[in-house]
Amino acid sequence: MEKTERRKTEEGSSVSFKGPDELWRRYAFIVNTSRSLMTLINKDYVYEVVNDASCLAHDMKREDLINKTVSDVWGGEVFGDVIRGYLDRCLAGEEINYQAWFKFKVLGLRYFDVSYHPYRNSSGEVTHAVVISHDITEMKLADDQIQQSFMKLQNAMEKTIDSLASTIGMRDPYTANHQRRVTKLACALAREMDLSEDMIDGIRLASLVHDIGKMHVPAEILSKPGKISDVEFDMIETHCRAGYDILKEVEFPWPIAKIVLQHHERLDGSGYPSGLKGDSILRESRIIAVADVVEAMCSHRPYRPALGVDVALDEIVKERGTLYDSEVVDACVSLFGEKGFAFEE
Ligand SMILES: [Fe+2]
Repeated sequence: MEKTERRKTEEGSSVSFKGPDELWRRYAFIVNTSRSLMTLINKDYVYEVVNDASCLAHDMKREDLINKTVSDVWGGEVFGDVIRGYLDRCLAGEEINYQAWFKFKVLGLRYFDVSYHPYRNSSGEVTHAVVISHDITEMKLADDQIQQSFMKLQNAMEKTIDSLASTIGMRDPYTANHQRRVTKLACALAREMDLSEDMIDGIRLASLVHDIGKMHVPAEILSKPGKISDVEFDMIETHCRAGYDILKEVEFPWPIAKIVLQHHERLDGSGYPSGLKGDSILRESRIIAVADVVEAMCSHRPYRPALGVDVALDEIVKERGTLYDSEVVDACVSLFGEKGFAFEE
């Protein structure tokens, strides 16, 4: 490089080159070094410019590929069904990007990221489409594998929760059934409140095992027909922390153990086990709390017959904002009223 040219480059004001031929060589070198397929296609769908990677992918010499139509190269069906639509949009001035599988003679089935850029002449008129395709097969396969592993893990986690829930059913069928029904209502409440699918998943799994800690409470107390004593009530109260202890070592993507721990907390701090107030109680727990109370009042208990939906709704409305989250209560009233929610199908 000559002295004057070097100084220009260092100042960043211009790029040095030795005439148009050398500049052309450099552009061609860049384009042909790229592993992306680069083509320039005219309005008659004819290839006018192709880079080395395109020739390699189609196993054709440049002189054989140039002046061929897209239909000649890809076949009439692929051209008509897929490529032509994109080309027409691009030739009308639109930038397009999409990803799809393509079958090549040599490369086989490959997944490509394809972008279409309108090429404009000096008057600004679109005369060609520049199509750049980048092979992302490996990334796509790795992504699919991660997705599959994630699904497997998710499935295993759901099965684990189901097994835990059914374990309690062997000893205490009432609680197992209660957990299922609370899950149905809690998820419906979360949907009514427009919560995200991810949050609903957490609520579903936590509700399915929210009373798992009752395994630590003697079965005679849980199924006692008469009134329970203070000591017995104290024992029942331990089920929140016992449930937390069972679940706390499992690393769920949601705070399942904490949700279970807090499902008997009440907004005004009168709940148990910690007497938490207001927003310091997890939203998920505030939802399960309402579902839990409503389900319990709608169901037959060893010590009393079912009280019914109306009594249950009266209770949560009476304590709206004091014991129970107002938004959850409103969602519950709307669910049973306008939406016709029922525990059983
Ligand atoms: Fe409970």
